[in-house]
Parts: sequence; C-alpha cells; structure tokens
Amino acid sequence: MVEYRDYNFAGKTMEFFVTHQTVEHYSGDCAVAFVFKDKAHQNKDLQQLLELNRFDAIVGATLMLSRVDGYKTKRLLVVGLGDSSLNEKSYMKVLNSLSSALSDAKVKNVVIPDIQIDNRDESWILLTTARVLKNASYQVEKVDAKEENEQGTLEAISIYSENNDATEINKGLAIANGMALTRRLGDLPSNICTPSYLAETAKSLAKKYSLECEVLEESDMEALGMNSLLSVSKGSSEPGKLISLSFKNAGKDQPVVLVGKGVTFDSGGISLKPGAKMDEMKFDMCGAASVLGVMRAVAEMNLKVNLTVVVPTVENMPAHDASKPGDVVKSMSGQTIEILNTDAEGRLILCDALTYCEKFSPKVVIDIATLTGAVIVALGKHHSGLMANDQALSDDLKKAGGDAMDTVWQLPLDEEYDELIKSNFADMANIGSGGAGTVTAACFLARFTKDYRWAHLDIAGTAWLGGSKKGATGRPVPLLTQYIMEQM
Ligand code: BES
Ligand code: MN
Ligand code: ZN
Repeated sequence: MVEYRDYNFAGKTMEFFVTHQTVEHYSGDCAVAFVFKDKAHQNKDLQQLLELNRFDAIVGATLMLSRVDGYKTKRLLVVGLGDSSLNEKSYMKVLNSLSSALSDAKVKNVVIPDIQIDNRDESWILLTTARVLKNASYQVEKVDAKEENEQGTLEAISIYSENNDATEINKGLAIANGMALTRRLGDLPSNICTPSYLAETAKSLAKKYSLECEVLEESDMEALGMNSLLSVSKGSSEPGKLISLSFKNAGKDQPVVLVGKGVTFDSGGISLKPGAKMDEMKFDMCGAASVLGVMRAVAEMNLKVNLTVVVPTVENMPAHDASKPGDVVKSMSGQTIEILNTDAEGRLILCDALTYCEKFSPKVVIDIATLTGAVIVALGKHHSGLMANDQALSDDLKKAGGDAMDTVWQLPLDEEYDELIKSNFADMANIGSGGAGTVTAACFLARFTKDYRWAHLDIAGTAWLGGSKKGATGRPVPLLTQYIMEQM
C-alpha cells in the first residue's frame, strides 16, 4: 500500500478581497471593464480604443489594453457581455474567458467591477464570481513528476461591492475549496487513491474540522451482514471500507445524509470492461470525492446544519476469488441479490451503505454515484440524472441545481421499471433487462431506501471530462452545497 500523503487540496494560494473603491481608482496590475455591444462605454478614451481595435463585444470576447485614460492600472482587460443584458449562462462564459485571459497575460492582481445579471441579486453574483474564478485556478498536479507543475501567476482578485461585505465571496471560496478536494481525489490515480487513501482523507478532514469519523473494516462489515458490498471488494487485494463522517452544528436536528460511491477503480471484475478508456474508471470514486468535498465546504462555512457523509469504498477487480456472474449474495437488508454482471458493482456497494444509513435517522438521504454509462446516452455531459422516491426532495434539488449552475434532469421511477430487475434465483438481479439502464439501477437502490426520503444522482456524465481536458469537474459539489444552504 502506498503511504498516505495529503496532496495539496487547496490549490495554489489566491486571495480574494471585496472592495467598494471604484475600479478606476484601483492601483494594482490590471482592471476589468465589461462592455455591451450596443452600449457606448462612458469612458470616452476607452470607447475610442474599442472602435479603433474593432472590438466585437460578443459574450466572453476579451481585449487587453494598456494605459487607458481614467484608470490607474497599467492594463485594462475588456470583456464583452453581448447584446444588452446578461443571463447567468452567459456570465459563466464571461468568467471563464476572463480567467483564461488573466492567466495568459500573467496578471498578478486584478479588480472586477460590478455587473447586473437578469434575475440574480448581488449575493448570487459575488458567490458565483468567487466560486468560478477560484475553481478555474485549480491546477491538475502531476504526481511526483520530474517536471515542475505549472503555477498560475494570479495572486489577488478584488471584487467591487457597494456593501463592502465579504460574506458571499467567502461562501463561494469555500465551495471552490470543496470542489478542489473533489477534483484532486478524482484526478489521483487508483494506485494512490485507494479505499485506504479515502479513509485517511476522511480522517484528516475530521481532524481539521473536528468531525466525527468512523471507518468500518471488512471484518466489521462482515459482522453487520454487508455481504453485497463485500462481494465486490473480495476480488481485490485492497481492503474495502465504509467511511462515515459527521458534522454536527444544529443541535438535535435530523441530519442530511449524503452517500458517495467510492469505487477507486472499476475494471468490471469478471465481467471485464473493454480496454478503451479503461483508465477513466479511476474516476469511479467521484461520488465519494464529491461528498467529501461537500463536507469540506460545509465545515469551512460552519453552516448551521447536521451533515453526515457515508462512503462505501472498494476496488472492483477480476481474481480467482472475485464474484462470478450468477453468484447470489444476501445484503445487510436481508434481501438477496443475483449478481448477473459483476460490472454493475456500484449498486452492490451502495445498497448496503443505504441500509446502514437508517441508523442516522436521516432527514433525507441523497446518494451520488457514477452509476451507469446509460445516463451519458440519455443526458450527455450537461445534466446529472436525478431519481427519487419523494417529489418535494426532487424539486428542491432541481431548484438548487439551477441556482448553482450545476443542473440535474429528473428521470422516472415507475414500478414497471422495477419489474425489469426480477430474478429467478434471488429477490432481485443486479442488472435490468430491456433498456432504461439508468432507471433500473435506481430501481435497485429504491428497494433499499423505503424507510426515508431519498434521491439518487447519477453523475457518470458530469463528474469528469475526457479527451484533452481529461480531469474531474468537482460536480455536483455546487449543487449539493447549495441544496444544504437552501434547507437552512
Ligand atoms: N462505473 C460504471 C458506470 C460508468 C460507465 C460510468 C462508463 C462512466 C462511464 C458502472 O459501474 C458500470 O459499469 N455500469 C454498467 C452497468 C451495466 C453492467 C448494467 C454500465 O453502465 O455499463
Ligand atoms: Mn462497473
Ligand atoms: Zn462502477
């Protein structure tokens, strides 16, 4: 086993300030000017320069100017806002191109003026600006590489606010810090980020934020009858774990419980996956990483809530002692499962974790899992899939997703789908027959969540990107943190 090392989860240091000094008076490196297509800028010198440079102020277009009259800074970054009003989606584009223009120009410190966005108040704008810019500074870190890891040059960002209040900015930063933890854990290779590594990470979070932490070993899980979870971990030399971590800051309130799938590598087991892109199955613990990220964000904000996160974590490998198609196991709930496909392992570890959750008397339970390839077919990389046994909870999650720009799309859970997981040899099979793979996976989980309000997020499409931008996204940390904030 690799020795535990706390990799740099905070990302590089970048400080944020709130300022009520107008942008023109800022004496740092660079100021930002937002311009619309159809509106002349009130600074005449700037307006002339825009015309001279034939600047087309489409959303996210940028132009770096030097020594503009009326500004104290040597440089002025002009950013286009499009036609005449700005919506929240366009603002994401604006922030992302702003961030890459600043890093291309090696700006050290910058001031950002105020801005209006349709249907959003200043609090939303401050939180989102801080969150997106801080998250954009996340750098994929090469593991113990000879070559130096890239370092950004941006050290300080000042954001204008008439109220001169940093509360919302600090919330945005806490969420970005949570996302950084999630992304880093996701990006780490599976030979470092093992179930034991996730347990050590949970322990170090517990120490830092005074959380209660419990790690169940395989022998503990055996005693509890978690044979479904153990049927996945038994084919690997990495021992499986069940981690729980509790933040108690709301007296005797029932806790919100988040359960994150932590398969640190999913080879498929005996139902072995094909080779192409199999490396991406190191991301199969992104659900686990996201609930740890939410915990970090919530603890850093010191929110007045009770939050428990539960992480069932295993490695799914083929071996002489691995589960075989057709094997039958008895879950902690007493229900038996015919393992028709060892690659449908996520639900096998989640079902025991979901039964375990009953002991927390949860207000709600939300599980987060890279559960099915089918959700990518249905929803691509845009929305996460949402399924639930409680419509009010679904609606709350949809609202939070919209507010956090980390959206979900609900799929149905009718009983007709549940019939697709019938088995001749056990209470249920671990795969469905006849399509709707994302829904039948959720139907399986629903059989273990009858005693509480429950929602399931399938993040197989949204948790990471492939190709040249390969890496974890930090989703759905913004959604879940927003949900928790909106419950208070
Ligand atoms: N971790 C995968 C889901 C996955 C696949 C996520 C591809 C992202 C990309 C999960 O454990 C899995 O293998 N699911 C199977 C289920 C099937 C065997 C019923 C799938 O989706 O193919
Ligand atoms: Mn699998
Ligand atoms: Zn998996």
